[in-house]
Amino acid sequence: MKKIFDTKIILNEEVAKNIYRLVVEADIDGKPGQFVNVQLGSNEFTLRRPFGIAMLDSDRLTMFYRVVGKGTKFLTTCKAGDEINLLAPLGNGFNFEVGEKILLVGGGLGLAPLLYAAAKIKNADIFIGGRNSEEVIFWQNEFKSYAENISVMTDDGSYGHKGFVTDELPEALTTTNYKKIFVCGPEIMMRKVAAIAKEKNISCQVSFEKRMACGLGACLSCSIDTINSRKKVCKDGPIFNADEVFYNEV
Ligand code: FES
Repeated sequence: MKKIFDTKIILNEEVAKNIYRLVVEADIDGKPGQFVNVQLGSNEFTLRRPFGIAMLDSDRLTMFYRVVGKGTKFLTTCKAGDEINLLAPLGNGFNFEVGEKILLVGGGLGLAPLLYAAAKIKNADIFIGGRNSEEVIFWQNEFKSYAENISVMTDDGSYGHKGFVTDELPEALTTTNYKKIFVCGPEIMMRKVAAIAKEKNISCQVSFEKRMACGLGACLSCSIDTINSRKKVCKDGPIFNADEVFYNEV
C-alpha cells in the first residue's frame, strides 16, 4: 500500500562519476519495477523526483540516481541521518513467477529496477550496457549476488564486449530458452530489444520513463499513447508489455 512518510538517509555515496547510491530507512512493500517519489529539500524543489526501487530488504530501500540538474545536485549534499520525504511504492511492477528463466536487459540507470528484479526472480540472466567501463563495472559488481549469468557490453569497448546490448541478443535468445525479457533503459534500446523479442516470439516487458509531476495519476503529465488508449506511466506503468507501447514499430 502506498504511503507518504518522512524517513532517514542511511547512505548517500557516489559509486561512479555522477552516479549515486541512496539508501534510506523504509518499512514498505514494493515489487520490482515500482518506483518511489522523492521530495528534495523542504520547499526549494516543487516537483518530486521518481526513482526506481533498486533493492528493498530489511526495511532498507536502495535507489540510484544520476546528477543531472539542481535537484539531484542538491541531493548529493544530503548525508546519513538527514531526513527525506518519500511517496512509495508507486506504479505497477514486472509480471513474473519466481524461478522463471528471464533475461534482463538494461542500460544506464535503467539497471536499477532490474537489480531488484534479479534478486526476486533468483535465476535471471542480465545484459548490462553502458558507454564505457566506468558506467558498467559497478553494475556488474551489484548483479554478481543476484544474477546467474552476466554479460557486459560497452559502446567504446573499454570493458566487456564492444557494441550494444542488442548485438548479442539474437544469439542469446537462440541458445537459451528464455520465457520473458525485461528491459529498462534508453527508449531506442528498449524498442530494438522489443523488436528482437517479437521476432523470436518471446514476451517482453519494458519500463517506461517520463517526467512526472504528481506520480499519482492526477495531472496527466506522464501520458503516453498505447495500442488501445492513452495511459499514464505513473499509474498504468511504468511497466508495460512491449506490444502495447511499441505497437507501431514492433
Ligand atoms: Fe501526474 Fe502521471 S505524473 S498523472
